[in-house]
Amino acid sequence: MTNRMANKIALITGSSRGIGRAVALALAKEGAALIGVHYSANADAANATVRDIEALGVKAVAVKADLREGKNAADSLWAQFGEAARTETGSSALDILVNNAGIAFALPLKQTSEVAFDEVMTINYKAPFFLIQAVADHIRDNGRIINVSTGFTRIAAPTHPAYAASKGALETLTLALAPEFATRGITVNAVLPGVTETDMNAEWLASPDARAGAEALSVFSRVGKPEDVADVIAFLASNDARWTTGQMIDATGGARI
Ligand SMILES: NC(=O)c1ccc[n+]([C@@H]2O[C@H](COP(=O)([O-])OP(=O)(O)OC[C@H]3O[C@@H](n4cnc5c(N)ncnc54)[C@H](OP(=O)(O)O)[C@@H]3O)[C@@H](O)[C@H]2O)c1
Repeated sequence: MTNRMANKIALITGSSRGIGRAVALALAKEGAALIGVHYSANADAANATVRDIEALGVKAVAVKADLREGKNAADSLWAQFGEAARTETGSSALDILVNNAGIAFALPLKQTSEVAFDEVMTINYKAPFFLIQAVADHIRDNGRIINVSTGFTRIAAPTHPAYAASKGALETLTLALAPEFATRGITVNAVLPGVTETDMNAEWLASPDARAGAEALSVFSRVGKPEDVADVIAFLASNDARWTTGQMIDATGGARI
């Protein structure tokens, strides 16, 4: 175990499963002090992530908030985690926020209802916006904000226009906030995964043809693993990435380059 995350307090949204869980474990392996495992519905998965972090000798707490509730959810999430952090560490400060929780509807333009549009924009863009606002005064100097976007902001995705646009907004926010946070040495970056082996894709990747198509997107001719993306996020979260801010970091395995 390295010590790159020694004394760091991290909050990772959507870390019960998938990429978020892999990020939580990557930061735990690097010796973080406390990790907030946020989830919405799947308490069993969140508790399993907490147990796996604790097995690495790192403190962890599960925090529930349904990001469909936008700012209320963001405020509640921070209130719960801040209190848990005070109990566990004596301080409600935060070093690393990873806005990872997200949903991805495969709905072309004409099939996108207003309800689906509002849901994807609220979970993927509005809630991260207000979570950053909620934690802004609590992030310590030299902290990190990392927003999880998608390669669909670079590669046209007529199958997912509302989803791609919600992440495009998150990327614009990433750039817009970087100068403000830089005054305290805090970096703000986005990571863009490509097709990654998680529950989000399990159903359609079960089709051999669809999987072959997904594999062919990457120059490495395979689908990404959650750890492939998590290691990029762990780098950005570390002191090694102190000179990189306001950037969109591709983690698609060179998809369509
Ligand atoms: N997988 C990919 O191929 C891929 C590609 C590009 C970008 N991404 C992005 O990467 C991020 C993680 O994706 P993933 O594939 O790891 O997802 P996943 O396996 O489907 O896990 C989604 C996570 O988000 C949480 N979540 C879902 N709806 C929520 C809500 N309403 N409120 C709060 N939390 C909610 C889930 O919590 P529960 O467990 O409680 O449901 C879970 O922790 C997302 O932002 C996604 O857009 C993924």
